[in-house]
Amino acid sequence: MLYPEETGVSVKYSAEKILNTIFENSNEGLLVIGENGIIQQVNSTLAATLRKTPDKMIGRPLTEVCKHSGLRRLMKVLKSGVPEFGKIDSIDGRSFLSDYIPIKSNQRVQGALAKIIFLNPEREINYDAGEGNRRKRQAAHRKSTVLYTVDHIVGNSPQMVDLKETLLKVAPRNSNVLITGESGTGKELFAQAIHAASLRRSGPFIKINCAAIPDTLLESEFFGYEEGAFTGSKKGGQVGKLELANGGTVFLDEIGDLSFALQAKLLRFIQDKEIQKLGGGEVKISDARVVVATNYNLEHLVKYKKFREDLYYRLNVVNLSIPPLRERKEDINDLVACFIEKYNRIFGLRVTGLTPEVEAIFQKYSWPGNVRELENVIERAFNVIEGNVITKDHLPPQLSGLLDSEVDNHGENEEFNRGNGLSLSLSGGQTLADIINQTEKLVILQALKNSKGNKAKAAQLLGISRPGLYKKLVKYNLT
Ligand SMILES: Nc1ncnc2c1ncn2[C@@H]1O[C@H](COP(=O)(O)OP(=O)(O)OP(=O)(O)O)[C@@H](O)[C@H]1O
Ligand SMILES: [Mg+2]
Repeated sequence: MLYPEETGVSVKYSAEKILNTIFENSNEGLLVIGENGIIQQVNSTLAATLRKTPDKMIGRPLTEVCKHSGLRRLMKVLKSGVPEFGKIDSIDGRSFLSDYIPIKSNQRVQGALAKIIFLNPEREINYDAGEGNRRKRQAAHRKSTVLYTVDHIVGNSPQMVDLKETLLKVAPRNSNVLITGESGTGKELFAQAIHAASLRRSGPFIKINCAAIPDTLLESEFFGYEEGAFTGSKKGGQVGKLELANGGTVFLDEIGDLSFALQAKLLRFIQDKEIQKLGGGEVKISDARVVVATNYNLEHLVKYKKFREDLYYRLNVVNLSIPPLRERKEDINDLVACFIEKYNRIFGLRVTGLTPEVEAIFQKYSWPGNVRELENVIERAFNVIEGNVITKDHLPPQLSGLLDSEVDNHGENEEFNRGNGLSLSLSGGQTLADIINQTEKLVILQALKNSKGNKAKAAQLLGISRPGLYKKLVKYNLT
């Protein structure tokens, strides 16, 4: 590094002045203590979160000023001299991610620095900011396209606690995230919460559903196009979503459905962050963080050469794998309480809970449509309820009869009546997509049965290509 003196440029600013400017204008909360635990420097971002101003904090012992906050951890780092990174703590119930770093000189610890980032933008209010500023911030937040934060993810099962912790740890970094899980497990909720907990939260959150758009259009959706790039293109062209997501997050849903050709183009974008509109134009850089979701088993798709291995490894830097609801039944009661509260508000009712019998049914059922199905069952009950408690009579037939018959038609071991002809159980809570998937799986199983396991014949029977059948076998875990 060249110092200003060496370059011949006159020195206008002292290092101290530059450091102070950085310190004061940082979006991160920063605090420095000396050897004796006395606060030497603190910026207003951090002071505001404690509802104080820096001058009320500087010169006082950290243990006194931050009596009840996780910041006291800094004293431990001061003693041990060992840094602690990525700790999740809270002030007034607001979660933050923090790094605690000892400041050493000649191997001696002379102080310590705390760096904190708040993780829930909704509750992040600058207490010094005055009413006008606060309103501006709230308006800006309403404009943001993210509705959910990590606080909206209900569930205290060990798996969910683990997942939420990982989410909070990885959100502020910029690595790509792959979210996997069955339909209705909350993949989109997680994607939004990652954005909300990241430093990009005031930037855009742009979603592209890779399964819903035909391949030819998807490419222009990703990269945009210049005017006249193809017949029917809009006047003035169009900005691609990867460009729109600059400074924010792009959420690529159903990534397993992306064609091979587009996978290559996405890989190139992930590597260089470069985009060029269809039909030419300048190459631009877009700093968009990539979060993807799928309910396919991508590893299987890689194995069957339906998904590029190099892209898979690029995306799979962090994998949040959300378990199906049947594997975390401890979460059912919390989710029910949350949905009852939600629908009480919407319907203007005062439903208080479930009968013990309904609780038992919920524990027994295997929830193939996961949390989405559970929410639909509660909403349906609100439409027919008369009293204040949800009883068996308010449930759809598949659930209400569950304790009577010992057979759970949605059991995880059930292979959709493999080989017994077509049969389809409709539960009130399933979406059309769930039903279509369920039907597709049944039809494939039937074709395999008729062709005695011969996949080429089965594909022929179904009128689809062999690779097409393989893709579906992978999707439904039938390989
Ligand atoms: N842990 C949770 N806490 C609260 N609500 C949840 C949770 N998980 C899912 N939900 C709710 O369930 C519904 C389905 O979630 P989401 O759309 O995120 O699922 P998904 O995994 O993306 O499903 P699909 O694969 O079908 O797109 C949403 O209304 C979401 O808010
Ligand atoms: Mg989804």
